[in-house]
Amino acid sequence: MQLTDLVHDYLSQQLKPGDHALDATAGNGYDSTVMATLVGPAGRVIAIDIQQAAIAATRTRLEAAGCLAQAELLVANHAQALASLCSKYAQTMSAITFNLGYLPGSDKSIQTEPESTLGALRAACELLKSDGLLLVIAYRGHDGGQTEATQVANWLQTVQQRGWTVESHEPIVTGSRVPPILWVARKT
Ligand SMILES: C[S@@+](CC[C@H](N)C(=O)[O-])C[C@H]1O[C@@H](n2cnc3c(N)ncnc32)[C@H](O)[C@@H]1O
Repeated sequence: MQLTDLVHDYLSQQLKPGDHALDATAGNGYDSTVMATLVGPAGRVIAIDIQQAAIAATRTRLEAAGCLAQAELLVANHAQALASLCSKYAQTMSAITFNLGYLPGSDKSIQTEPESTLGALRAACELLKSDGLLLVIAYRGHDGGQTEATQVANWLQTVQQRGWTVESHEPIVTGSRVPPILWVARKT
């Protein structure tokens, strides 16, 4: 099972009709569409990506799934976007996803960076409601990927010390390839 499928399993168990959810790296819109389907027309999904092309792809996927109406799409850096969403959506999100790295098949130089990722994760803490789920996938094989993953892991230790539960999933791979990692953190 791919880590992205595991994320969708967690979302299926977590999200109910009417819930709020946020995708901090919308990409091609796979996670946003799963979220929007689960929360239904009474819910709200906010999907953010720094690239216009990613938001366009997300819009197309949501529309094809018949769930664009419950989605709000933002072309923005997630650190700034999540911080500004705190005034309206603090403590309301049932799930927030981060799928770090770059958009497959696109410009690999546009990738998530530790500073903005950590800024967005801090704001995500404010946006999540109690018992809300934070799901983060990091890819460690590309330039900068391992550094970012290490900083995210260190940050997750600090939320674990504050009482959150944090677990990780890593597939077993052959050879020298460094596998991606999924962290699943639940706010207390
Ligand atoms: C691995 S892809 C996400 C895949 C997506 N979850 C999906 O379901 O298709 C990572 C995305 O992060 C976006 N990204 C990179 N830096 C960002 C930033 N600072 N703020 C928001 N999005 C960013 C990239 O444009 C890219 O689309």
